[in-house]
Amino acid sequence: MSPSPQQQWTPTHGEPYRPVPYRPARMPATESLARAARLRTTMDERRTVRQFSPDPIPEQAVRDAVACAATAPSGAHQQPWTFVLVRDPQIRRRIREAAEHEERVSYDGRLGEEWLAALRPLGTDAVKSHLTDAPALIVVFQQRYWLAEDGTKHKHYYVDESVGIAVGMLLSALHQSGLAALVHTPSPMRFLREVLGRPVNEKAFAVIPVGYPAPECEVPDLVRKSLEQVLVEI
Ligand SMILES: Cc1cc2nc3c(=O)[nH]c(=O)nc-3n(C[C@H](O)[C@H](O)[C@H](O)COP(=O)(O)O)c2cc1C
Repeated sequence: MSPSPQQQWTPTHGEPYRPVPYRPARMPATESLARAARLRTTMDERRTVRQFSPDPIPEQAVRDAVACAATAPSGAHQQPWTFVLVRDPQIRRRIREAAEHEERVSYDGRLGEEWLAALRPLGTDAVKSHLTDAPALIVVFQQRYWLAEDGTKHKHYYVDESVGIAVGMLLSALHQSGLAALVHTPSPMRFLREVLGRPVNEKAFAVIPVGYPAPECEVPDLVRKSLEQVLVEI
């Protein structure tokens, strides 16, 4: 498999195994440790931003981050994702109106007391100004299946897991490129397929506003689990 970004992928089904050598140079342990420690600090500085500046962002950095996300592993290498980059202010306004409609219903009772209690420390409400303030939105779609040219429907495997991993890699790439983001999951998200004209095999996964934090940006004072709390070594 060539890493060339020029190469065009096409869906395959039942192709034979074609191995190619993979022999990356091994990194010295000292270099691994130095990189890992730096990355740990960098990633610890990532925060979900909900107040964005309308300032423009270097758009190629966003495209590069999507390209990073698209290197994610996926079930049976089916790469079941589409990233829609929305800059058009009118479309962002339509997304905001539809999202706020759903969020109002959610916050007015659909979520239930337990869910609302879980959200309380985050200070969120039904107003989603980030959808129009941030200069770009990346709307991530899962491809639940693919349609062959002869109309045959082919199932995709581990779609939730694959797209979740890709979105994690996207957030990491955006953060390491100096851009802030938010994973926004208005529920239900059906309106996104309609507003963005996506095909029926695609299901919205998340809306990710991208930009710089507004000068007055604040984030909730959250505590992350320590390494000892999340890592079990056997
Ligand atoms: C799957 C997923 C869905 C989320 N949905 C929302 C959302 O709809 N609205 C929102 O404001 N934040 C949302 N978030 C952001 C989380 O609230 C945030 O990641 C969490 O509070 C931790 O904060 P941090 O990202 O600053 O570490 C979501 C995050 C994930 C991973």
